[in-house]
Amino acid sequence: MQKTTKPLNNFKITSVILAVIIIISSCASGQLGKNNSGEYENGMVVSAHPEASHVGVEILKKGGNAVDAAVAVQFALAVVYPNAGNIGGGGFMVYRSASGEINTLDFREKAASGASRDMYLDSAGNPIVDKSLYGHLASGVPGSVDGMVEAHKKYGKLSWAEVVQPAIDLAANGFKITKRQAAELNGLHRNLMDFNPNGTAFVNLESPWKESDLLVQKELANTLKLIQEKGRAGFYEGAVADSVVAEMQRGKGLITKEDLKNYHSAWRKPITGMYRGYKIITMPPTSSGGIALIQLLQSVEPYPLKKWGFNSDSTVQLIVEAERRVYADRATHLGDPDFYAVPQVGLLKAEYNKSRMANFNWNAATPSSSVLAGEIKGSEHEETTHFSIVDHDENAVSITTTLNGSYGSLVAVKGAGFLLNNEMDDFSVKPGAPNMYGLVGGEANAIAPNKRMLSSMTPSIVEKDGKLFMVVGTPGGSTIITSVFQTIINVIDFDMSMQKAVAAKKFHHQWLPDEVYLEKDAMDSLSIEKLKAKGYKILIRGPIGRVDAILRTKWGTYQGGADPRGDDVAVGY
Ligand code: DON
Repeated sequence: MQKTTKPLNNFKITSVILAVIIIISSCASGQLGKNNSGEYENGMVVSAHPEASHVGVEILKKGGNAVDAAVAVQFALAVVYPNAGNIGGGGFMVYRSASGEINTLDFREKAASGASRDMYLDSAGNPIVDKSLYGHLASGVPGSVDGMVEAHKKYGKLSWAEVVQPAIDLAANGFKITKRQAAELNGLHRNLMDFNPNGTAFVNLESPWKESDLLVQKELANTLKLIQEKGRAGFYEGAVADSVVAEMQRGKGLITKEDLKNYHSAWRKPITGMYRGYKIITMPPTSSGGIALIQLLQSVEPYPLKKWGFNSDSTVQLIVEAERRVYADRATHLGDPDFYAVPQVGLLKAEYNKSRMANFNWNAATPSSSVLAGEIKGSEHEETTHFSIVDHDENAVSITTTLNGSYGSLVAVKGAGFLLNNEMDDFSVKPGAPNMYGLVGGEANAIAPNKRMLSSMTPSIVEKDGKLFMVVGTPGGSTIITSVFQTIINVIDFDMSMQKAVAAKKFHHQWLPDEVYLEKDAMDSLSIEKLKAKGYKILIRGPIGRVDAILRTKWGTYQGGADPRGDDVAVGY
């Protein structure tokens, strides 16, 4: 007896000691709850910046839910990822609760009340490109702060003060910039000086920025404190609103005190659709992304993508033809639903999207000049960043948020320390004139006072058999829709893990210009030659998308997909 029990006890003690060592070391490295295959059991945050992902997971560990973590991450990104994270921009949230409730929040910017249809045209009626892209006139009324207040009010569990605090700390104490950020800020030095002659925290006057330099943002910390103390009034009224209006006066911008006070985000019914037995939950207009995503999925569903294989010539050709038709619809039919009757029901009919593919010919590219938007019959009533979060109870949040271009309008509000968006360029400034992403539009997306500009942002959540399956989204302007689409089919059709699906090389077509963009090595050279022989104009370009996603495995664990195209990090626990 003695002989057998003693070694057993020793073994038990050793096991306990080992387990304690593993737990302590895994806590220190943020690996608690990680299984052997790199998956996590309790929850996960995937975002564009390591500091922001860690902020989110700390909130989850404190007992916060996915929305608490999302609010904390949104504010943290406004500090540590100023090229797209923001309080001076806007975005969209798609939410799915553990019990299956779904909802979306539109906190997209609005045109100021003084905006007008032709405000970016010269006397000959031609677009003055820079006017909608840089400086004070390029900004819409910011929506992010109201969005976070609304999201937290409806679904948050921790106090508002608790979820805003990490961002205040990061702004007041500073954070170490990444190598990529140092290079970006140095590259923009002159432009930032031009637009902010009184200085801004983003400009280093002493020497060029280098990796690991501390970026301290005192003014932003004060602004965040006001938001923490007063909620939306801390931003849309009082000292911060005064600073925004003073900026507008300095640079002849349009945003007034009334515009700020009147801004409200909108809860909207999610768009849903089925694809090979999976339910897609995504963003309705003011984003075009959700409708276009479902249209693309419906267009390709009848075809055997899995048999053809990932990025084979047949797969790419089919998808390019679907994208051509869907983006033509986008240009004509999509705009702010509060101003324009978007024919949503018609666009989302599977027969409609099938019929759009009927005139596609395997032997030759369909010229975009021969593709118009489809006719929708019957009357109807009616540098961005993405982060994905799942909490311990399996509530999920998918948020894409933006200033539009990298560092937005390049104007940092003096005294308040945050960058303003250049989202006005997402309107169609003149019918048929391309915006910075080459997208064209018309009446549906024309500028009007207080109207929201059309977006391509596609935060999405996928369900399988009534259970959470994937949380996904990306930046990338017009390529957002196709990157989200390709990430979803990479998992569903091509059986990739989340990380592989995110990292996989992507391609893109958007009707106009009539060109197929490929990331380097997205296709083999023989397949490229086959497509060229059919009349496709193929161009190799830089990175497409920067997807941050989470996959729930059939064992109930979470796989992260953090895009290697950026500094993105998946942190689980
Ligand atoms: O809302 C939109 O569609 C654009 N403003 C998104 C811009 C974007 O993704 C820039 N990042 N790469």
